[in-house]
Amino acid sequence: MGCFTENNPQNQQALWWKQGVIYQVYPRSFKDDNGDGIGDLSGIIAKLNYLTWLGVDAIWISPIYPSPMVDFGYDVSDFTGIDPIFGDLATFDTLVAQSHQIGLKVIMDYVPNHTSDRHPWFLESRSSRQNPKRDWYVWVDPKADGSPPNNWLGSWGGSAWEWDATTRQYYLHSYHKAMPDLNWRNPAVKEAMFDVVRFWFDRGVDGLRIDSAQRIMKDPHLRDNPPNPTPDVTAYKRLGDYDSQLHLYDKGHADIHTVYRELRQLLDTYSLQSPRVALGEMHIFDWQEWARYYGTQHDELHMPLNFGLVGISWKASVVRRLVEAVEAALLPEAWPNYVLSNHDEPRVTTRIGSRQARIGMMLLLTLRGTPTLYYGDEIGMHNIEIPPQYVQDPWEKNMPGMGLGRDPERSPMQWDSSPNAGFCPPTAEPWLPIAGDYKQVNVATQCDDRHSMLALTHSLLKIRRATPALARGSYTSIEGVPQDCFVYVRQFGRQRRLIALNFSGSEQHIQLPEMGNGFVLISTHLDREEPIDLASLHLRGDEGCIIELPDSI
Ligand code: GLC
Ligand code: CA
Repeated sequence: MGCFTENNPQNQQALWWKQGVIYQVYPRSFKDDNGDGIGDLSGIIAKLNYLTWLGVDAIWISPIYPSPMVDFGYDVSDFTGIDPIFGDLATFDTLVAQSHQIGLKVIMDYVPNHTSDRHPWFLESRSSRQNPKRDWYVWVDPKADGSPPNNWLGSWGGSAWEWDATTRQYYLHSYHKAMPDLNWRNPAVKEAMFDVVRFWFDRGVDGLRIDSAQRIMKDPHLRDNPPNPTPDVTAYKRLGDYDSQLHLYDKGHADIHTVYRELRQLLDTYSLQSPRVALGEMHIFDWQEWARYYGTQHDELHMPLNFGLVGISWKASVVRRLVEAVEAALLPEAWPNYVLSNHDEPRVTTRIGSRQARIGMMLLLTLRGTPTLYYGDEIGMHNIEIPPQYVQDPWEKNMPGMGLGRDPERSPMQWDSSPNAGFCPPTAEPWLPIAGDYKQVNVATQCDDRHSMLALTHSLLKIRRATPALARGSYTSIEGVPQDCFVYVRQFGRQRRLIALNFSGSEQHIQLPEMGNGFVLISTHLDREEPIDLASLHLRGDEGCIIELPDSI
């Protein structure tokens, strides 16, 4: 039985980002207000009431900065502006003000690893070797034979080095060649990027989701990556040549922790006014290594994002092992978090099916740690098929047919059953196709159906909000249950809740006589609220329950 410490109710004031739920908005796909087929800031404003009704606490908005949109906003050409596609700074200020009025926090996507090749910094940098901003990016001479300086590969295929014929050097790009990497070893870059943080915090932003957070510090000697002797052929995503190397030198250099300590200090000064949060995008599955980004003194990121649930096989024992490994890796101060889907990963409903997606939602919202909920998962949206002529994602364009494209999980939000699903006017052409199931799978229809996925998500969020044991409590898993079940207790003070999840389609019988009687508060089937004798708990196929236990003595 794994037991992980409870926060002491006496001495801990819960912070919003610890007990709250974060909702990710992919702005292009959320709500188009001006009718050009692309979601925008006024669309988000129009849906703030929906988000508060739903019961989330914060929105993380994927990038909205001016951008040539090679990578739909992750290629930033101005870190302190808003792309006209999305609106302007005044609309952004309104969004923040209105969000705050209704108690929603706003988290910005912060993209420190690279800029667009159209960013003025890069235009200057590439203009000549003598330019004062030359060293703001990573420029290196070719090898004697003219080839790139080392064997590093871009994540989306090909070399990570692009030749610049004018100045006769290569520049580094961890992703697309239109997204050159910044040189964080240059103090002027760090200062300029910290100014960006100040700019948004001064505007009232509550937190940062740091894009590609592991990448900003590379090996200063630019050593070749060694070959990967055992590429994981079972990995849920196969990245082609990129998998043939061990990525020892092109990311995660130890100096990165110094940068995050400094960034944390900057955040902490702002937190004196109101608590700010730094989340980091970390694709690390060695949990000890991952946990280092919290800082050994809890002085780096508040939460390196945890993608453990995304790639694993959906079995009770595997999920439980993951949760326990994550818990075991954390220092007492460090607060966990879980991601089920996002704009880079196949949607959970597509990965595990609609029935188990309800288990996934209950799991996400009852584990110890901050949940991140991807827009559309609350109504069970699926990945869509993207016909070749509609492909937008640069990853798919660079490496076609390998199943790496991310358009399928970025389809427009399904608001109602009108043409274009209420995402944009019927006359507009949405930037990505609307899912074929939108007439059934949409917010309006599910609002009227008390057994819908939306009803489930809404109820779970409501219960979670009202229950400190779920939002803040300790986690203890329960042994001796059927192998397809994952059962755990959350406790805060004397309040206890038991969560029992059936990861299979067949009925399961759980016997916990020592637990006595309880009360089923909610089932994923949304059809029972009743007293229960835990000596004999029957779960139907694909059923999960939250059960109130008597207060501990
Ligand atoms: C991160 C983002 C992804 C983007 C990439 C490059 O992985 O989540 O969407 O393409 O960084 O910025
Ligand atoms: Ca629009």
